Amino acid sequence: MLSTFAHRPALLQESLAHLALQRGATVVDGTLGGGGHAEAILKATGPTGRLVGFDLDPEALDAARKHLVEFGDRVVFVHGSFRELGNVLESQGISRVDGVLFDLGVSSWQLDSPERGFRFSGPAPELVPLDMRMDPAAPRTAADLLRDASRDELVGWFQNHADLPGSKRLAREIVESRRARPLRTSADLIEAIDRAGIGRGRRHHPATLVFQALRMAVNDELGAIRNGIEQAIQALRPEGRMVVLAYHSAEDRVVKNAFRDAVRGCVCPPRTPVCICGRQPCLRLVTRKPITPHADEVISNPRARSARLRAAARIPETT
Ligand SMILES: C[S@@+](CC[C@H](N)C(=O)[O-])C[C@H]1O[C@@H](n2cnc3c(N)ncnc32)[C@H](O)[C@@H]1O
Repeated sequence: MLSTFAHRPALLQESLAHLALQRGATVVDGTLGGGGHAEAILKATGPTGRLVGFDLDPEALDAARKHLVEFGDRVVFVHGSFRELGNVLESQGISRVDGVLFDLGVSSWQLDSPERGFRFSGPAPELVPLDMRMDPAAPRTAADLLRDASRDELVGWFQNHADLPGSKRLAREIVESRRARPLRTSADLIEAIDRAGIGRGRRHHPATLVFQALRMAVNDELGAIRNGIEQAIQALRPEGRMVVLAYHSAEDRVVKNAFRDAVRGCVCPPRTPVCICGRQPCLRLVTRKPITPHADEVISNPRARSARLRAAARIPETT
């Protein structure tokens, strides 16, 4: 394990600007990580603003606790998923919040901790377990998924989570390989990818996408984004803001569609004569197109290069 938590918050000023926070505001940070965004939020809402911060990863929470110690009881730390946002706020006696931030995916620190198994490049891949759980107490690792998933499930993950060219070929190869020997380490999976012969001649090693797809399956990341956004909509006061940072197209697509549905309200299929879903518009878009980092930020923090920020404001219910 790395001894220090290193993660530079992406699009920090843009996140703050779109949260449009006042002093004394109550804010949810659904993805505390090392607490970089949280620190800026707490400064902007001081001296009385409150922050409820979630993380699935107990090590990230420990790092955030240390980083945010100066803010004392203005911060509530929650070990759990932002999918639980509604229940947690209720248990804290908080009925409405002024802002919600989701900075999706994994932190640099998680990526750089080899024993977590999030990353395919690095020394001794034969010693790196296929784990990829954000919460180490979660029941299933990436190795478990690779052992148990059907070929169709594997194809679905590779396609829906990462738009991986050659998804079917790789799924077939994994199913063949595991008959002989289970895939347990990064090296095992990289060998299967090489044998499947996918991604030849592309700029990035296809393992980048394969690892991304598996990580998202292990942590049900797309399901969590949908649930989290729904919960955030319920929790926001009218004109309260939600800011979401996504890092690749599969994540961003889910955010975009969830915002679009909430702006439109009715989700009945086209040509349904009368609305049967009964849903009302509940968000207004603040960003029409996603905001991306300036060149300066990408130079000083290369991992921010793929960040895309979308923001929306809660509108009052019409019924
Ligand atoms: C990109 S990092 C956040 C970095 C943070 N904004 C900062 O400034 O340090 C994403 C964090 O969200 C956590 N995470 C991802 N999905 C989550 C979920 N569904 N619920 C709670 N935490 C989650 C990860 O464990 C990781 O620590």
